[in-house]
Amino acid sequence: MTADSHKLWGGRFAAPTAHALDALNRSIGTDFRLWPFDIQLSQAWASALAEAGVLTEEERDQIRGGLDVVAEKLATGAQPEESDEDVHTMIDRMLHIEVGDPASRLHTGRSRNDQVATATRMWSMNAATKIDTAIRDLQRVMIDHADQLRTTLIPAYTHMQRAQPVSAAHWMLNHFWQLERDRTRIANAASAASSLPLGSGAIAGCAFPVSRDQIRNELGFSSVSQNSIDATGDRDFVADLLYATTMLGVHLSRLSEDLILYGSSEFGFVTFGDTFSTGSSMMPQKRNPDALEIARGSAGRMLGNLTSVVATIKGLPSGYNKDLQDDKRPMFDSVDTMLLVLPAVAGTLGELRFNAQRMRAALSSSMMATDLADYLVSKGTSFREAHGVVGMLVRNSETSGVELNHMPFTTFAAAHPSFDHDVFDWLSPDASVARRNVAGGTGPDAVDDQISAARAALGTAVRRLQLIP
Ligand code: ARG
Repeated sequence: MTADSHKLWGGRFAAPTAHALDALNRSIGTDFRLWPFDIQLSQAWASALAEAGVLTEEERDQIRGGLDVVAEKLATGAQPEESDEDVHTMIDRMLHIEVGDPASRLHTGRSRNDQVATATRMWSMNAATKIDTAIRDLQRVMIDHADQLRTTLIPAYTHMQRAQPVSAAHWMLNHFWQLERDRTRIANAASAASSLPLGSGAIAGCAFPVSRDQIRNELGFSSVSQNSIDATGDRDFVADLLYATTMLGVHLSRLSEDLILYGSSEFGFVTFGDTFSTGSSMMPQKRNPDALEIARGSAGRMLGNLTSVVATIKGLPSGYNKDLQDDKRPMFDSVDTMLLVLPAVAGTLGELRFNAQRMRAALSSSMMATDLADYLVSKGTSFREAHGVVGMLVRNSETSGVELNHMPFTTFAAAHPSFDHDVFDWLSPDASVARRNVAGGTGPDAVDDQISAARAALGTAVRRLQLIP
């Protein structure tokens, strides 16, 4: 058969389509990868048509069996033909080759509009489960590090200025919870995608009495769309997934930025391992954290993908419009990118070594200034007064170049009568951290609880996702 005879439309035209339109309109280069889902939904559609009396049971079985053969061919490397307009046309053509005439009955009551919406939703639900798995792999590495770093101290920064000492586990897990929220967003995007469009036809609904609930059940959707106009024109679920992947990209970028900074010679808090570092063609000494830089850079492209889809949806009149064909490129790109970035970031993090001494050495005594004020508060001074007194002591320390914990007791006594000799206990970073056992704080008990909560979160959240059979 010639390719033109497989076009799913064309009878009403007297002249062939212009080459320039074909070239522009063809989406097979992008949507080919939807084929496993187009096969599944076509098989479900064949069964629904048989139940509705449109196909005989024999035709249904021929079609379903033929689609199995087509799937097998595609799985083992069959490629689209130059003339295949899109994945739906390609599968239709291949099915004709396998089963002949019954294939011509499959497209009864359906349109590529409800077909592509269904396949794209199935793809995105499947992608969500893959991303969820990849995030969890990274989160596990974070928990392992946190376990080791419970009693290791690191400066916490605000405004990129040394602020207060914290457990390094607490810093590590701050990134864990960002990813945990991303998993919730990804799961929500998957559940937004889980409404079945098939049966909506081109825009008005199918005229044959198919059981959409039977299709829903076979394909693993959680509900059936309520409005065929909305169902064929709705790409909110694509935007939802892109927002979720954008935030994920943003969080990986922040993690990467921390690690890149901490890996610099100036910080020296962490050392990158060999298998996730690259060298320089010119400078022999270099050990570059490329995976982290690519992760950081990718976040910008994620945002661009989200923006492009939201902008595409914005101007559309109701129902399907061809603009929507361009929903898949950004979605595929964002998901593909995250599925490459996540394992590389997990690998980089996994072989990272933490240099406890360098982190400890960065804890200057002025970072305990808040504790010093708290000390005065514990002796009955108001925090406002204490803040002023300690501010003066810090200024004194800065101008004299003597750290707070090396200043003589007389200096403290002169600054405020409530200072006693035990003031030096309050200037230790360990004591500062130990005092912060409030839930969500950096104290040792709070961090232990946090690690347990993190483990529990990892164990349960995967069940939020709707799995494709
Ligand atoms: N390739 C198209 C897409 O991705 C399929 C739907 C085409 N529908 C149509 N009426 N031309 O959106």
